[in-house]
Amino acid sequence: MLTVIPMSDVDPFYAISISALAHRLTAEGRSVIHMEFGQPSTGAPKGAIAAAHAALDADKLPYWESHALKVRIARHYLETYGVEVRASQITMTCGASPALVAALAAAFEPGDVIAMARPGYVSYRNTARALRLTPLEIACGPETRFQLTAQALAAIDPAPEGVILASPANPTGSIIPAEGLKAIAEVCRARGVRIVSDEIYHGLTYGEPAHSILEFEPEAIVVNSFSKYFSMPGWRLGWLLAPPQLAPRTAGHAGVLFLTAPALAQHAALAAFECREELDGRLETYRRNRALVLDALPALGLEKIAPPDGAFYVYADVGHLTDDSLDFCKQLLMDTGVATAPGIDFDPVDGRRFIRLSFAVSTPEVEEALRRLIPWFAAARERAAAA
Ligand SMILES: Cc1ncc(COP(=O)(O)O)c(C=O)c1O
Repeated sequence: MLTVIPMSDVDPFYAISISALAHRLTAEGRSVIHMEFGQPSTGAPKGAIAAAHAALDADKLPYWESHALKVRIARHYLETYGVEVRASQITMTCGASPALVAALAAAFEPGDVIAMARPGYVSYRNTARALRLTPLEIACGPETRFQLTAQALAAIDPAPEGVILASPANPTGSIIPAEGLKAIAEVCRARGVRIVSDEIYHGLTYGEPAHSILEFEPEAIVVNSFSKYFSMPGWRLGWLLAPPQLAPRTAGHAGVLFLTAPALAQHAALAAFECREELDGRLETYRRNRALVLDALPALGLEKIAPPDGAFYVYADVGHLTDDSLDFCKQLLMDTGVATAPGIDFDPVDGRRFIRLSFAVSTPEVEEALRRLIPWFAAARERAAAA
């Protein structure tokens, strides 16, 4: 018997409609600044591009999983987090997105409850639903830096089968500090909750570096990607790391669902690990951009924001100006040419009064965006006060 999964199970990604509008405006000759998507504007590092050129000449690019890359990733865990993992625990995937699909499909059964923070990345609840899992969104506000806590997880009754953590998170950029991760790991171990940790923004932090959940829970599943720190989103490469007894199953799911990750991207990614200086230079650009945006917040009248410890986002409360963030983002784009993402992508309940700005663009673009936004927000405040 065929089972049809209705699309109504899956929410649209509203930022895509904002982006489509932004591209229409560009086609009409308008100057548009793209702060709606979280993608680096810089491209792959030079060494990765050189390796890709060499691979195009020398390799037939078959279906392939690079053992050398998996060994390099395993070394990265030892060097960065002091955690020993084996290459056999790692599966290369076409980004963190399929890694998440394979992880959830392999580790859970239909109907299992998966807890996650709200606000959170749009794919978590949608992927869970598409796999016939039950997403359980936990409202997380400023008091917990928009993050899940051990207390919140301890209070869910009955215990969920799984939880998705993200630190730094999208859309807030907030981090769960080491002691928070440790406490979450303890609660989850005691309650039999399997942790899936999305560590895609690791390497992009502005204070304390992010900790891996593997420092506290070796049984956790980790997804990661070359899309953010390594600045290679369109190369479609990521990885899935599972504990030894689960790894054959997660690898099996990734294999039957997606075959292998792109061979060319794997050649390039191995070289990208040796491009730290260039990549860390980009982090400095984000750090400057972040400071510019944070400094401009009072002039924008946006005082209520989540602390962007990492990633490249500011998630701002615009509840004093609107209760329809999608319409707000459209109007903002039409009037100023600055594209932003509506909070409803990340939070179907309270996201009506939030927007997310991505500062993963160039510094001159951030400066220009702020020049346009400051008078627009002043006028919006005046309109709201007069209403
Ligand atoms: C938190 C988070 N996880 C996963 C992804 C998916 O990334 P990719 O599939 O490009 O690796 C994104 C993309 O923006 C993200 O923000």
